Amino acid sequence: CGIVAYVGNREAYPLILKGLKRLEYRGYDSSGIALLENDKLNIYKKKGKVSDLESVLADKHLTATIGIGHTRWATHGEPNDVNAHPHFSNNRKLSIIHNGIIENYASIKQQLIKKGHVFLSDTDTEVLIHFIEDIQLETGGSLESAVRLALKEVVGAYAIVVMSVDHPGQLIAARKGSPLVIGIGEGEFFFASDATPIIEYTKDVVYLDDYEVAVISDGKLSIQNLDNTATIPYIQKLEMELETIEKGGYDHFMIKEIFEQPRSIADSMRGRVRADDAHLQLGGLSNYLDKLANSDRIVIIGCGTSWHAGLVAEYLFEELARVNVEVEYASEFRYRNPVINEKDIVIAISQSGETADTLAAIELAKSKGATIFGVCNVVGSSIARATDAGAYTHAGPEIGVASTKAFTAQVTVLTLMAIATAKRKGTISEETYRQLLIELETIPSKVSKVFENASKIKEIAFIFTYARNFIYLGRGLNFPVALEGALKLKEISYIHAEGYPAAEMKHGPIALIDEDMPVVFLATKDGSYEKIVSNIQEVKARKGRVIAIVTEGDTLIPGMVDFVIEVPKTHEILTPLVSVIPLQLLSYYIAVMRGRNVDQPRNLAKSVTVE
Ligand code: G6P
Repeated sequence: CGIVAYVGNREAYPLILKGLKRLEYRGYDSSGIALLENDKLNIYKKKGKVSDLESVLADKHLTATIGIGHTRWATHGEPNDVNAHPHFSNNRKLSIIHNGIIENYASIKQQLIKKGHVFLSDTDTEVLIHFIEDIQLETGGSLESAVRLALKEVVGAYAIVVMSVDHPGQLIAARKGSPLVIGIGEGEFFFASDATPIIEYTKDVVYLDDYEVAVISDGKLSIQNLDNTATIPYIQKLEMELETIEKGGYDHFMIKEIFEQPRSIADSMRGRVRADDAHLQLGGLSNYLDKLANSDRIVIIGCGTSWHAGLVAEYLFEELARVNVEVEYASEFRYRNPVINEKDIVIAISQSGETADTLAAIELAKSKGATIFGVCNVVGSSIARATDAGAYTHAGPEIGVASTKAFTAQVTVLTLMAIATAKRKGTISEETYRQLLIELETIPSKVSKVFENASKIKEIAFIFTYARNFIYLGRGLNFPVALEGALKLKEISYIHAEGYPAAEMKHGPIALIDEDMPVVFLATKDGSYEKIVSNIQEVKARKGRVIAIVTEGDTLIPGMVDFVIEVPKTHEILTPLVSVIPLQLLSYYIAVMRGRNVDQPRNLAKSVTVE
């Protein structure tokens, strides 16, 4: 979900509305705004997109200079007008917006119902604001102390902002496990779940920490922890530019981000790789390189696309650095009793740096003494801060819900980590080391080269627009790429798609193959080329329709399949960085042709801060 709040001298409504649109990628099943207008607290909310809320409010003259807004990704209660945030307290004097989940809301709700509270929605959030009101009335203390006391009782995760009719000019915010950024302008303050709604107005921000409560009152910011001990706000400068969060002439963020990859991949290598003098350095990890090189086992954790980047890394670390790697879904890892100890290295991969399951898995691994490295895209994110060390991916803000440039940036950074480890261990020759650095520098231009096939990919997308299923097959490093290709298609076009290791096909999926089944083969020239050719024949023999991603100049496969898409030749180790690109484009064009909401596919959210 997304949070925006404002207090200052400007009109709050247009500013909050714009902020919500910027945050819509985080959740978009309903949205709402509360404004403090002429000593009255008014809440406006609407199921659907932020633009639906905007239409409802189009005729209203909203001049308040303080307000809170929210765009929702439903957890408790179906998406409708009533369950949308903000929510009122029982006496309607307080209102709240909330990201996260209050796990013990049911028992608190029971107590409050006994006291006569009446709830309008099914949400855990409404319970929290009623609870805050109840505590304030019972204790007779200040609103901020009631917020603190309530949060001490709460189990779960939250980022909240509370506004009260009795305190015009005051906003109270708090976080635990769900991000919250405070923007500090001239006589004005902003709260948001990430910096995108703020950047236009100020670059001075404070990232709130877990268990901290921020109060803005009389134009001043103060921060305390839940025990009311004050902390001094640490003001950071945002490095992000406004253009990076706008569409810049593209129809969708996703396609903009796909086309940005030559730059984003270069950015993830900037200052880290120089083939000329065989330089490779990851600043954030330099003190840990020996530890990495001496470890017997690396456990990689992530979710979704980040987990796929982890699977690529498994091949890279094993192949280059000869170290045992296990890749785990963060959500599975955390609920087992994983065998892990202080000798292990855990690499947590996360674009947003906020995924609840990944964060919890890190805490578990930490408690067992493992050393944790982060590979995150969002600077200052919770995961980046929870890890011992790490390397940012520097892909820039990714807004499209389906991850594209973050994936290639993750793979790039993990490749650098694997090469650096191998170099330190001496498991690759000087020759291979140099070769890899030289090849890495050519990747951005090779990715640009793939774009020359965009119109061909569009034609293929047109032919398969209404396919009901898709199979993606690859071997070795291209196996995770097949998984990623299938995931992209599922996410944005809602076509059922499965990724499989090509050789596994004969143990099941082959039964699905007939003339209606499109099969995408990752068939680049590498160690398993001959094998993949046989797999293609197996599909063709059963009349499957084959789209093959091949290396430029391949003369064999084009004669066997229905469609080919060429990608430039690169070092086998770096193949995923080019072979994934046509799959991103294919899913994008199919989704557009099916009229899907590409940037905001149904039911998905960009950053999942609930488990
Ligand atoms: C969500 C997103 C995916 C993403 C996954 C992990 O499901 O929709 O695109 O891959 O979370 O997110 P993370 O930010 O940890 O990489």
